[in-house]
Amino acid sequence: MTHRAASRTQGIEPFYVMEIVKEAQRLTEAGRSIIHLSIGEPDFSAPPPVQAAAVKAIDAGLTQYTPALGTDALRQAIAADYARRFQLAVDPERVVVTAGASGALLLALAALLERDRTVLMPDPSYPCNRHFAAVLEGRAQLLPCCPETRFQPTAEMIEAAWTAETAGVLLASPSNPTGTSIEQPVLAAIVDRARARSGFLIVDEIYQGLTYDHPPSTALSLSEDVLALASFSKYFNMTGWRLGWLVAPRALVPTLEKLAQNLFICPSAIAQHAALACFSAEALAIYEARREEFRRRRDFLVPALRDLGFDVPVVPDGAFYIYAGISRFAANSWDFAFDLLREAGVCLVPGRDFGAAQTAQYVRVSYANKQERLEAAVDRMDRYLRRRL
Ligand SMILES: Cc1ncc(COP(=O)(O)O)c(C=O)c1O
Repeated sequence: MTHRAASRTQGIEPFYVMEIVKEAQRLTEAGRSIIHLSIGEPDFSAPPPVQAAAVKAIDAGLTQYTPALGTDALRQAIAADYARRFQLAVDPERVVVTAGASGALLLALAALLERDRTVLMPDPSYPCNRHFAAVLEGRAQLLPCCPETRFQPTAEMIEAAWTAETAGVLLASPSNPTGTSIEQPVLAAIVDRARARSGFLIVDEIYQGLTYDHPPSTALSLSEDVLALASFSKYFNMTGWRLGWLVAPRALVPTLEKLAQNLFICPSAIAQHAALACFSAEALAIYEARREEFRRRRDFLVPALRDLGFDVPVVPDGAFYIYAGISRFAANSWDFAFDLLREAGVCLVPGRDFGAAQTAQYVRVSYANKQERLEAAVDRMDRYLRRRL
């Protein structure tokens, strides 16, 4: 037998962040106290009404396969939530329930990306996106984005990068790792460019709901041609439940359905039944209180990092990340993050996972941790940086 990995796997990089997380683990086991500002998931678990709904579903034996596109009840509840939040009528038939945003990204790209075609995406951006393209034997083309455009591409940048090989664009708003959103007029111009070029536009709205300076928005308000995806992972605090969704143009749904049937059969039945409780008044009140907590943490941490000498060129308006420049302290964020971890016991994510352009000068700081831990981390970094400078 030979088990030579298929060539399509060769360009796929591991999560480099795991190297630093492993080191943090080793130090913890050796008795050191480590504060994680590295976490990409809320520090809250699903609220009590959602947990109770899951237990009820199990007790009632609602654990069989569901339709591949998700239960009618959940597709309708998700559509109703667009009406509630955005005054937007979304046909439930366009809602495809998936195994997290990850499932939605895979389905969308599998449906749309031809082999050897490219997808334009920002640098920095969520690392898995370029690897989804690679698994499908397409390619990511990274567009270096700077603070002046909130680390997001503009319509002009997309137009300039578009070639005969370009199949479409994949954006995230708010973004991981920068926490910045694309302003609606900019997004509207991008929709126009993608349409003019007969390409697709996928907008990852996984951090939808977690915005702090403006009401949340959706690309679906701009056009029914956009594929918008979201998740129960972040705002709804359900990372491990593996549930998300995609809203697609009507004509694409049969293709997505046959892909979903073959690749996944269906998303988790228990998670789907539980997720219905996310939209109850009781759960929504809890989510909004938690969103406020994230906003308070951001408002503490951005000025605190600036006082320490980090460069935070754009105040993030969403998610729970701050993209912070470390050029004042070091030439390379990889070495800086390891040294900070070992010397000060604070774990940050070096920019390396998120692209190539300027990622050596940045770290991602997550505030998905309790306020007192954030304060302790700032004290530790203060002492460390005083020694270092
Ligand atoms: C931008 C972005 N998209 C997609 C995902 C995948 O999330 P999930 O599959 O848990 O919904 C993440 C997770 O961190 C993310 O940050």
